Amino acid sequence: MQKLIGPFKQILTLAGMPLKGRLRDDQLEIIVDAGVLVADGLIKAVGKFDQLRSKYISVAIEEIEGEQVLLPGFIDCHTHICYGGNRAKDYALRIAGKTYLEIAKAGGGIWDTVTQTRLADEQSLLDGLLKRANHHLSEGVTTIEVKSGYGLNIEHELKQLRVIREAGKLTKADLVPTCLAAHMLPKDFDGDTDYYFAYLLQTLLPTIYNEKLSKRVDIFIEKSAFNPEDAAVYLTAAKYMRFDITVHADQFTTGGSAIAVDVGALSADHLEASKAKEIRLLAKSDTVAVVLPGASLGLGMPYASARKLLDAGANVAIASDWNPGSAPMGDLLLQASVMAAAEKLTTAEVFAGLTYRAAKALNLNDRGVIATGMMADMQAYSCADYREILYYQGKLKAGMVWKKGERV
Ligand code: NIG
Ligand code: FE
Repeated sequence: MQKLIGPFKQILTLAGMPLKGRLRDDQLEIIVDAGVLVADGLIKAVGKFDQLRSKYISVAIEEIEGEQVLLPGFIDCHTHICYGGNRAKDYALRIAGKTYLEIAKAGGGIWDTVTQTRLADEQSLLDGLLKRANHHLSEGVTTIEVKSGYGLNIEHELKQLRVIREAGKLTKADLVPTCLAAHMLPKDFDGDTDYYFAYLLQTLLPTIYNEKLSKRVDIFIEKSAFNPEDAAVYLTAAKYMRFDITVHADQFTTGGSAIAVDVGALSADHLEASKAKEIRLLAKSDTVAVVLPGASLGLGMPYASARKLLDAGANVAIASDWNPGSAPMGDLLLQASVMAAAEKLTTAEVFAGLTYRAAKALNLNDRGVIATGMMADMQAYSCADYREILYYQGKLKAGMVWKKGERV
């Protein structure tokens, strides 16, 4: 069924903009008094509302009241929202001065969530994941990447990935699953890193591939997790098995981003510790630099140098990293707005990072802009000018959201 949605005061299409490097706000395509023609979940036409109405005379109209600004749905290309329990205890210690690594060493951190996630049954994991995914969707996030990484053995990594698949059938948001079995060396694993990687490569990844549970493999390269040399071996093998690669890189120490670029990863995420050398390397590559302001806010640490990455020519996407430890808030728009003020990002750079540039990090070319032929994933804000959205720093939320052309 065809329908014409509008009129919108402004449509910010995000179309026709470069994939990499800095953006000026005058590069944004803004159509005023505009409408979108939608059919079968796709965008069939975008333009002036009156012109579309006269051209498609008998089409149904979904009328928009008041002044509204339309954007593509946001794409959150990095989350860990499938987990059991919470880490409020860790958070209290952290704001009182303990570091992430100190907390991890004292038995908190990722391992605590692994314990709680292993104890959780599938139904409770599913309920938690669905609640978070639907909350994201209600705030305009129409595509959500979701990592495993709190199972850390075959049984529980598969449990998480199956729960993510099940949730994908029950929410209208698109969920993109990623295997993060290499989140840390599990404390109960009887063996070393080489042995753990062999176990993952020989047993877990083939099952994931055959059951189509995920096409993506992630790893945490860090002192408390895996070193760059071992990671390179694992990622090269995973790539050979035809998985797309993404890397938790340069969060506290450098080393991860170079491996990400080397293995041709779709994205290198975090980058808070990246310096000139890493920035140059990322900018020259096709690997998307994903910055995660929610982790900086949650840890009380500096942001990744998004400004320098963009100036150097990198493709910078912005994601929430929503997880129970370092980034429990999960408010993507708030995080992006607040980081923009600190990092001096243009509105165009922020919206690009939340839409078509994030789509690239997930290797999706059917979404992230409002243009003919693209998926009709859209969100509208009650305001007359697109600049009001970041101005309210996340307090002004999308009042209307469409997934594949349907209001959710
Ligand atoms: O992206 N850095 C490693 N992994 C997550 C944190 C996960 C956790 O603390 O549970 C991150 O910040
Ligand atoms: Fe993460």
